[in-house]
Amino acid sequence: MELPLEYFIKLRNLIYERTGIRYEENKIYYIKKRLHQRMEAGGFDRVEDYIRHLKIFDPKGREFQQLINLLTVNETYFFREFSQLQVFAESCLQEVIKNKAQANNRTIKVFCAGCSTGEEPYTLAIILREMIEYYSSWEVLIKAIDIDENVLGAARRGVYDQRSVKDVPPTYLQRYFASPAKGEYVIDQSIKDMVIFEHLNLMDRRALRFEEDYDFVFCRNVLIYFDDISRKQVVDKFYSMLRKGGYIFLGHAESLSRISSAFKIRRVSNHIVYRR
Ligand SMILES: C[S@@+](CC[C@H](N)C(=O)[O-])C[C@H]1O[C@@H](n2cnc3c(N)ncnc32)[C@H](O)[C@@H]1O
Repeated sequence: MELPLEYFIKLRNLIYERTGIRYEENKIYYIKKRLHQRMEAGGFDRVEDYIRHLKIFDPKGREFQQLINLLTVNETYFFREFSQLQVFAESCLQEVIKNKAQANNRTIKVFCAGCSTGEEPYTLAIILREMIEYYSSWEVLIKAIDIDENVLGAARRGVYDQRSVKDVPPTYLQRYFASPAKGEYVIDQSIKDMVIFEHLNLMDRRALRFEEDYDFVFCRNVLIYFDDISRKQVVDKFYSMLRKGGYIFLGHAESLSRISSAFKIRRVSNHIVYRR
């Protein structure tokens, strides 16, 4: 199958408009391989026909969704970027808990954007469970979203392999995972119950319009696939979703400096944290 540059650009523009994900020209082979798979499945011979189908004859976006399921990069594992999670657990979370307890508001709400197969929101659930004193007197909700339908299925199942759990501290591995077979780790139901998974596109402002009052937004290793314009759009939305005093966590290589000046910046043990 040929993918002339002209059609690559049309396709990547369509993907960018709908998802915020930006593919540069060096990704042409990556796209081509997945495009080929979808064209074969749908019986398309010509790229231009497939693109026309996406634009005009796919009003509910079903085929577009299938393509996106193949294109997203879903790399993740439990307790990823451990030192950043330590800052969250030992500093930001403690401050939020203290302030909310003083205000007699015993709820903690976390939004986990680009949650992939669930390792990140379940990690956050374990941390909250461990770090909140008198946990049972608090109401904790973690909402985890992703644009890729396939990863959400895996997240809801909550069954993992050795690679996913390699960084889980042994005590937590024992406490929160069952291992019915060698190399298989099943997340505990009590942790599962803390997380709600939803299929949601971060560029869909309508779908996000009721999301508010969050204490924490985690969006780690997602915006690296966006350009500055779509990053800014999403980060502005996160700002409005956070309550005053709430925190946003991006991946360690991702900075807000070019994207937004709305957040207050704090340095906590070598990490920059951003607070509304
Ligand atoms: C590399 S994974 C990161 C997983 C996890 N946050 C972590 O840091 O381990 C990026 C995830 O972002 C999701 N994603 C990409 N664009 C998105 C969008 N527009 N809306 C929601 N999720 C998106 C992808 O499907 C993928 O599962």
